Amino acid sequence: MIKKGIILAGGKGTRMSPLTKAVNKQLLPIYDKPLIFYPLSILMLSKIKDILIIVNKGQLDQYKKLLPNGENLGIKITYKEQDHPRGLPDAFILGEKFIGSDNVSLILGDNFFYGQSLSDTLKRCADLKNGAKVLLYKVNNPELFGVAKIDRKSKKIKALKEKPKKFISNQAVTGLYFFDNKVIKYAKNLKPSKRKELEIIDLLNKYKIKKKLSAEFLGRGGAWLDTGSIEDYYKTSAFVQAIENRQGLKIACLEEIALLNKWISKSQIMKQVKFYGNCEYSNYLKKIIKKSA
Ligand code: G1P
Repeated sequence: MIKKGIILAGGKGTRMSPLTKAVNKQLLPIYDKPLIFYPLSILMLSKIKDILIIVNKGQLDQYKKLLPNGENLGIKITYKEQDHPRGLPDAFILGEKFIGSDNVSLILGDNFFYGQSLSDTLKRCADLKNGAKVLLYKVNNPELFGVAKIDRKSKKIKALKEKPKKFISNQAVTGLYFFDNKVIKYAKNLKPSKRKELEIIDLLNKYKIKKKLSAEFLGRGGAWLDTGSIEDYYKTSAFVQAIENRQGLKIACLEEIALLNKWISKSQIMKQVKFYGNCEYSNYLKKIIKKSA
């Protein structure tokens, strides 16, 4: 069982400047809530309660105002500041103490997932005991992502490549990963790539060579959306707006997930209503309390 999760919420977000000049990208809105709520909800849906958020140096206060220590959500949130981005596997080096002797999941702070059977897939992923697991999603533009070539029969990963110029497959490796504890050792042994960063694909390849890498698929009915550019931000916001307004249900309402997981009580949700103040999100929280009464 994976009990620990890391959200990598650093990065300069230069593609979205000037929006990201003063505010971290993951604190900008996707429709009605900050982007960070979405990856955090994914860890919570995976039943992970012990969470480390890696943020840029100097931006800790911004985060703590929004997500203090997790107690209000029945979870534990700790923070770690990063001087400058050194590639995704750096999360395991920075997070070594936090991980301790446990297995760990990593989610990129700007990744958005949605889907009918997502919770079941996540629970299966979080069951990982040894090796590593990735979540794959079919995309139209695989050259922009890490990509996995799959054996049609066995569904096993045959090859992995970061942003392949020549087509090898359209199965993108999404920014949600599950690892056993060896990940710390493997991350420390990585060499920086041509772009002078530690690469997640190199880390995954260490598991693949040992035949310890497996995959889950987020199928056709699911969504893995980009939040990399301003255009992507608006598209993802429009997606959330359409689904939420149609159903009257919120995507990534952290308190709702915590209540369903039985991590918090209704009175704790009332405290959150006070914390957020008079707003539409609070009205939704009040509705949840009424519904579960
Ligand atoms: C990173 C990873 C890539 C992965 C992607 C998912 O890419 O390197 O393998 O598919 O995240 O969001 P980057 O965002 O650094 O371009």
